[in-house]
Amino acid sequence: MKNHTIENILDRRSVRSYLDKPIPEADLKWIVKCGIYAPTARNKQNWHFTVITDKETIEKINTLSLEGMERLGIAKEPGYHIFYHAPVVIVLSSALEGFSEMNCGCALENMAIAAKSLGLDSCIIGQTRYMFNQINTVDINRMLKIPDGYQHDAAICFGYRQGDNPEPKPRKDDVVDYIR
Ligand SMILES: Cc1cc2nc3c(=O)[nH]c(=O)nc-3n(C[C@H](O)[C@H](O)[C@H](O)COP(=O)(O)O)c2cc1C
Repeated sequence: MKNHTIENILDRRSVRSYLDKPIPEADLKWIVKCGIYAPTARNKQNWHFTVITDKETIEKINTLSLEGMERLGIAKEPGYHIFYHAPVVIVLSSALEGFSEMNCGCALENMAIAAKSLGLDSCIIGQTRYMFNQINTVDINRMLKIPDGYQHDAAICFGYRQGDNPEPKPRKDDVVDYIR
């Protein structure tokens, strides 16, 4: 069977090495559009997307997140970059209400699959949450244009992969039951 959607879902990997090459603006627009076309509980669309291509801001988020990890004693090898030097990062935030985190999860995966279909790769990044492990989270929200009353959920980085597509990680085969 040839089905591009299924192929893109099965070929998507969390990619952790990127070329220093920007992604076309038109591709980025499609990715964001696919994000906001994800379903939301009760169609609340109570989320916010911060699309970042500014290198300085990406570096700032990386530094703040690494500092937050360090404060918690989470060790990372020298030179570790939470976005693996990808040229685009989208930070997702949502209102503090039911299902909003799940809504963001739907958007993240939509964007990852859209990117794959455009010849790009991605990695969902939860480590950005560590940047809030410090006193002045208000400044971070301002920097990332996160609306009042919203909280950061996770981020996703995109770019052109450096190297081969990683092998798929084995999936657990005992997580599905059928009731027929
Ligand atoms: C909510 C969420 C948070 C994640 N956070 C990170 C992260 O901070 N850094 C990272 O390298 N990968 C992160 N990942 C990627 C997972 O490690 C990856 O999806 C998993 O190992 C399976 O590999 P695959 O995506 O290539 O199938 C995250 C994935 C999800 C869904």
